[in-house]
Formats: sequence, structure tokens, C-alpha cells
Amino acid sequence: MPVPQDIDSQAAGRQLLTGHRELRAQLTALRAALDAADGPAAVRDAGESASLVRQLRERCLEYCLGLHHHHTMEDGAFPVFEQRYPEIAPVIERLREEHRQVAAGLERLGKLVEADDGEDVTWLRAELERTVASLEEHFRYEETHLLPALGVTVPPAV
Ligand SMILES: [Fe+2]
Ligand SMILES: [Fe+2]
Repeated sequence: MPVPQDIDSQAAGRQLLTGHRELRAQLTALRAALDAADGPAAVRDAGESASLVRQLRERCLEYCLGLHHHHTMEDGAFPVFEQRYPEIAPVIERLREEHRQVAAGLERLGKLVEADDGEDVTWLRAELERTVASLEEHFRYEETHLLPALGVTVPPAV
């Protein structure tokens, strides 16, 4: 796939940071929704429960899709960054490998969610946590080692 050479590195870096902020907020909201559905107060009738679980499954898939898009956008820009800033080539190689690992997890989770028609969200929460276990570390690594090279300063609390 041809890589656009006219990428504005700084703008791409700022976009990356905005993406992280949104994905973090979505994940926090998703965790809270899964906790609420799974908690002791979650007494509902069967119809209500099935509908809630369906909504949560959809939200999980939506989140996975957003994360997939974010990494696809980054993967598309990496060759340009490698050319412009060869000193961070090892950083980018590590990020690519982490993207591959996350993608494998997302694919697995997507298949499990689509195949499940139960009313239980316990496994969904556990699978989501497993899939995104090292995500925050990945975001932090990008913010610490990639963004400064692009000329983007990361505020202390993103
Ligand atoms: Fe990434
Ligand atoms: Fe990222």
C-alpha cells in the first residue's frame, strides 16, 4: 500500500494522543458498564438481562473496532516516521509487534463475542481484560518514546 509522504508528523502525533485519550475514556466507561451489569444490584428479568448483555457485547465490538482503526492508522504512518527519524526504528519495530499481539487478541475476542448468545457478562469482562492487559503500557510507550521524536509534548496526566 503506498504510504503518503506528506504526513505532518506533529499533527499525526497529536492525533495519536487524542486517540489514546478517547480509547482510555471508552475503556473506563466499558469497564464500569460491565461491572454494573455483573454486580450484586444487577437483578433484572430475563428479557432485560438479555438485552443488556447484547448491548454490552456490541459496545465491546465497537471498542475493538476503534482500537483496530487506531493501530491501522499508526501502522500506515510508521514507514514515514522510520524514514524521517531513523534513530527511533527500534521503537517502531517494537510498536509494530505490540500491534500484532493486540490485533490477535482483538480478533479472538471479536469471534468469541459474536459466537456467544448467553446472558452472562463475567467471561466478557475477563476476556476484555485479557485482550487489553498491556494496552496502557503500549500507549505509555508510544507517548514516551515515539511522540517526543515527532515534536509532541505529552501533558503529565493524559
Ligand atoms: Fe499503537
Ligand atoms: Fe497509539
